[in-house]
Amino acid sequence: MLTKDFDPFGLSAEEFFQKFRGESLTFDDLNILQTKTIDFGVDDVDISTNITRNIKIKTPLVASPMEDVSEYEMAIATALQGFPTIIHYNMSIAEQAEQVDKVKRFENGFITDALFFSPDDTIKSVINKKQETGISTFPVLDGKKLVGLITKNDFSSSLHSDLLVRDRMLPVDRLENRMLSLSSLPTDDTKRLQRANEILLDGHQGVLLIVDEKRMFHSLVTRTDIEKNEAHPDSIKDLYKRLVVGAAVKTNIGETKERATELIKAGVDFLCIDSSHGNSTHERDILKYLKENHPEIDVIYGNVASAAGAIRGVEWGADAIRVGKGVGSICSTSRVSLGTRPQMTATYACARAVNEYRIKNNIDYKIPIISDGGYSSFSAIGKGLLFADVIMLGSMLAGTDESPGRTIYDRQGRKLKEYKGMGSIEAMTHGSASRYDEERSGSMVGEGVVGTIKAKGSISQWVPKIKKGIRKCLQSVGSNSINMLHEDVETGKVLIERMSEAGKREAGIHDLLEYKTELPIRY
Ligand code: IMP
Repeated sequence: MLTKDFDPFGLSAEEFFQKFRGESLTFDDLNILQTKTIDFGVDDVDISTNITRNIKIKTPLVASPMEDVSEYEMAIATALQGFPTIIHYNMSIAEQAEQVDKVKRFENGFITDALFFSPDDTIKSVINKKQETGISTFPVLDGKKLVGLITKNDFSSSLHSDLLVRDRMLPVDRLENRMLSLSSLPTDDTKRLQRANEILLDGHQGVLLIVDEKRMFHSLVTRTDIEKNEAHPDSIKDLYKRLVVGAAVKTNIGETKERATELIKAGVDFLCIDSSHGNSTHERDILKYLKENHPEIDVIYGNVASAAGAIRGVEWGADAIRVGKGVGSICSTSRVSLGTRPQMTATYACARAVNEYRIKNNIDYKIPIISDGGYSSFSAIGKGLLFADVIMLGSMLAGTDESPGRTIYDRQGRKLKEYKGMGSIEAMTHGSASRYDEERSGSMVGEGVVGTIKAKGSISQWVPKIKKGIRKCLQSVGSNSINMLHEDVETGKVLIERMSEAGKREAGIHDLLEYKTELPIRY
């Protein structure tokens, strides 16, 4: 190779995977070489990408549709960080549509679905709600009209339990400096939030009630929420400036017709046919149905791990291909069935096949590859992005404050959260049996486990670290965007070597008695 961007012992991706034909490799098996000169800073790396044919995102990640990962709180938090969540389907159609609706109605810092009371409710019910939710400030509404405010400072549980909310609330005529008309606020998202913050500070208040000109309740703003939501330059929005969200549907055609219709009515941006068996006639029929009946909605197809499976998805009309079989942290599929494949070989095989197919068939748009499962370090994400457009995360997002998993404390008092596979018996009985083709047969065989995971704090603190990690990966090989990374891989500027067992040990932290890290993941 007569180029400056080379090393005599590294191989291009094509050479590497041809050399190891017949071997299944994963992240730690690959060592990635930098040959290009780095001429930009880590913050200059553009990590935007496409998650589907038509949907652009600012961070190359997606939250997996899983019971302990992806409900509306996760969806709001990740969309503010630049990537979508796919709301899982282990709930009724109405509940899933409501979850999508909550994301779509979210206004940065403005709580439009605040818990409220009517003047005729009892103080006892306020006390109960406060205990149940930890929330201590509630608007009082008559229908939708704001008539007062009740907070923990307005009652005592020993004296007022039997009284009504109307007896203890601050009536609306005493709320002047805590009430604001929507029309007096700027329409621009960031300015609106700034203005609300100024008014809160000026009024020395913790809460602001926003109403329309007829005094109908619009939203509630609190100091804590403003601080949480202040700056989100990366948030992903649809044409109407609402956050982007996806949702999972099943391979059961009867149910999916209705589920998809309701999700689309609620404003979902894309759908994901959530099946561990892509490349099946069930999935083909669903994909064709969705593309014929809802052509405006992009659909993710999967899961597959072979070139053949990926190409079928493209032929059947998929707008993105989800790759990953038997590799998730909670997954026991490779113990009970076949067809699995370590994630690097799977991702490369599928990405290469789709690319080749596109070129041969003159397809002039990109069909993104979503590499799903097995990611537990920043460098693994970097390696996945050598070939994939987006990385799907389960365990790296489970355990955050926004994940719906149950919180548990272990014997040492450490905070943990439950994280279970969608193929665990427990999750399958909640609805995901269809994902594993277990809906029709009698005895269930689990393909996943129920486990616990270390608590990671809030998405707003944790995800910026992941994003920084991704930028470091790209910068370290001299590519300042995902497109450039793909080009550099294709043209052999990013080179690959097989990592030896001794090399893996050397690459890990070694020879220390003990060590500390600030990261809540494997290091
Ligand atoms: P993780 O990021 O390594 O935790 O993997 C998450 C991925 O594992 C998901 O996106 C699914 O593709 C897959 N998955 C989820 N639940 C199960 C299961 O019970 N068995 C097998 N795979 C699963």
